[in-house]
Amino acid sequence: MNYGEAKKTLAANGQDHILRFWSSLGTAARKALLAQIATIDFKELARCRAMLPGAGAVAADAKGGVSPTAPKVAELKGKAQAAAFAAGAKELAAGRVAVLLVAGGQGSRLGFEGPKGAYPIGPVTDKPLFYFHARKVLAKARKYGKPVPFYIMTSEANYAATLACFKENAWFGLNPRDVFLFKQGMWPGMTAEGQVILDAPGHVFMSPDGHGGLLAALKRSGALADMKKRGVRSVFFFQVDNPLVEIADEAFIGYHVLEKSDYTLKLCAKRDPYEKVGMPMKFGKTFRMVEYTEMTDEQCNRKGKDGKLYFLYGSPAIHVFDRTFLEREALKPMPLHLAHKKIAMVDVKGKVVKPTEPNGYKFEKFIFDILPDAKKAAFLAFDQKDEFSPVKNAEGNDSPATCKADLQAKWRRQLAARGILVSENATLEVDPCTL
Ligand code: UD1
Repeated sequence: MNYGEAKKTLAANGQDHILRFWSSLGTAARKALLAQIATIDFKELARCRAMLPGAGAVAADAKGGVSPTAPKVAELKGKAQAAAFAAGAKELAAGRVAVLLVAGGQGSRLGFEGPKGAYPIGPVTDKPLFYFHARKVLAKARKYGKPVPFYIMTSEANYAATLACFKENAWFGLNPRDVFLFKQGMWPGMTAEGQVILDAPGHVFMSPDGHGGLLAALKRSGALADMKKRGVRSVFFFQVDNPLVEIADEAFIGYHVLEKSDYTLKLCAKRDPYEKVGMPMKFGKTFRMVEYTEMTDEQCNRKGKDGKLYFLYGSPAIHVFDRTFLEREALKPMPLHLAHKKIAMVDVKGKVVKPTEPNGYKFEKFIFDILPDAKKAAFLAFDQKDEFSPVKNAEGNDSPATCKADLQAKWRRQLAARGILVSENATLEVDPCTL
C-alpha cells in the first residue's frame, strides 16, 4: 500500500487522522505505518464501530427473552465409558485427532515476562507449562504409533518467544514437522467516537483479537488446510494455563465421535457458586456460553430438586470440535466483545498521554461463541481435581502454589494406582510421557 492508497482508504472510512503526523515521520516509520494500515480490515472495523456505545446499535438479546435452563450433562460409567474409550482409541490409532492450544496470553498477571506457556510450573525442575502439554501430546503419538499434530496459537507479541522456548527445549521431544505455530490477529483500539487510536505519532494501537481470533487465524495460516490434508476429524482444544488437562483423552474424543457432535465440552461441578468459569446454558433449543460476569446472584445460587446448584457445571475450556464445523465457522464473522480500557494515546500535538480513566475500547472474539451454531452439541462431566487447576493469579486461588499442589496430588494418585507410594512431604514431578 502506498501513501495515496492509504489516504484514500482512510478518508473513505473516516480515519484520516492516522496520517496526521506523516510529515514528521522518517522513512522507516512511514513504511511501518503504511504496513500497519494495510493489515486493517476496514469492513471489520466498521463492525467494531457499530458496536460502540452511542453508535445506535441495539444490543442483540442472545437470550431472546427465554429463561435459560441447565444443559443435560453425561457422566460416563461402565459400558458407556468402555465404548467411548474404544471409539476414541480407534480415532487416535487412525491418526484422525489433532490438538489445538490457545496460547496468545502473556504471564503478566503472574508477574512473569514472556508467554504464559513458558511459565515455570514443574515442582522439581521448573519446567514450563508448554513442557507438560507437549509431553502429553507426545505420549499419545507414541501410544498409538501415529502423529498427533499439535497446533499452537500465539499472539503477535509472543510468537518469537514461544518458538524460542520450543527450540531451546528440542521441541520437548516432538517432531517439529508435527508442531504448527501460528499467530492470532490484532485489532485497532478505538475511542468512543470511533476514531482508531494512535499510541505514537506513526503507530496505531493494536491488541490481540481474543481466542475467538482462532478461526480466522487457523484459516489464514493454513492450519485448517493442514488438518484436512492429514485426515484429521476431531480437534481437541485447551487453554495454556491448565497443566492438569488430559490431552486428547480417549473417552472424551470417543464420546464426541459417538454422539456425532460438532462441539463437545467437558464440564465440571463448580467449587462454589461464584467460581469464575463460563457456563453453557440452554436458551430454547440453542446453547450459549454465559460468562460468570453475566450471571445473576439468583442464577449463581439457585438449587435444583436434588439440593445441588441448578447451574452446577462450569466450563474449564476443554473442548472437542469436529474439523468440518471449524471450517464452516471460519467463513462467518464472529460476535465481538467490547472492553473499556485505559489506552495511552497521542494528543493533537503528537504527545503521548497516559489516561487515568478508561478512554478507549478493545475488541475481542471468544471461541465459545460458535456454540449456538453447532448442529449437535454434547456435554460431558469430569472430576475437577483430576483435570483442572489453572494458573491465573500470582497468589491465592488458581495460583502457581495451588496448581503445583494439585499436580503433585494427581501424580501421587496415579503412581499409587501402579503400586508406587510417594510420601506426602516429598516434592514430586513426573514426565507425562512416562505415565
Ligand atoms: C477463560 C474463559 C472462561 C473459562 C475459563 C477456564 C473467556 C472469556 N473465559 O477465562 O469461560 O471458564 O477460562 O479457565 O475466555 N488467549 C489467546 N488470545 C487472546 C486471549 C486469550 O490465545 O487474545 C488464550 C490465553 O492464552 C488462554 C486462554 O485464551 O490460554 C484463556 O484466556 P484467559 O484470559 O486466561 O481467560 P479467563 O478470563 O481466565
